[in-house]
Amino acid sequence: MALLKFSWESLYNELNGCTKCRLCEHRSSIVVSDGDPHADILFIGEGPGREEDEQGVPFVGMAGRLFNDLLEEAGLDRKSVYICNIVKCRPPQNRDPFPDEAEACLPYLRAQIALVRPNVIVCLGRIAARYVYDRDIQISRQRGTIKKAGIFYVIPTYHPAALLRREELTNDFVFDLCTAKKLNDKIKNGEDIIL
Ligand code: URA
Ligand code: SF4
Repeated sequence: MALLKFSWESLYNELNGCTKCRLCEHRSSIVVSDGDPHADILFIGEGPGREEDEQGVPFVGMAGRLFNDLLEEAGLDRKSVYICNIVKCRPPQNRDPFPDEAEACLPYLRAQIALVRPNVIVCLGRIAARYVYDRDIQISRQRGTIKKAGIFYVIPTYHPAALLRREELTNDFVFDLCTAKKLNDKIKNGEDIIL
């Protein structure tokens, strides 16, 4: 897919009715994003779950509600960040997206990133980090470590759903959100970023 002309209009036109991978077959909605299209911090999840598919909005289920609370704990607010996913259509039974599905959908994510132009990108979980941060990511070892990718700073952390299963990861997750916030504050203040 070309998406050479980066505008929100061309992105939405191209996404509308997309059948570029098999995930189009069972979706109710294409889940594009939530939050502020001019945000400084952009979060990437994996793909819509059942509630997201029904409502057409990312992170509105159980994991999403926890995510909202923890954003607040880190001094962030869902309305002032941008939230999206690797794949825009729900994988059946919430399985991981297959590589060919992720690859088919990635041009949309690239367009979103180019249009939002955030200072900081946070990858929520292994799948997002795999495609945006490091193919061989080991989240438990690499979470919270800042990497420069092109003009963007990228930080991987746990997926909020992982915190529902393992509450003990919550502090690290909030710490990583605070790292993202502090990094963004530094960038906005024109401070040197030493990695
Ligand atoms: N999990 C995700 O990765 N994304 C969502 O939008 C919801 C749950
Ligand atoms: Fe298109 Fe992405 Fe949905 Fe696949 S997941 S059908 S590439 S929008």
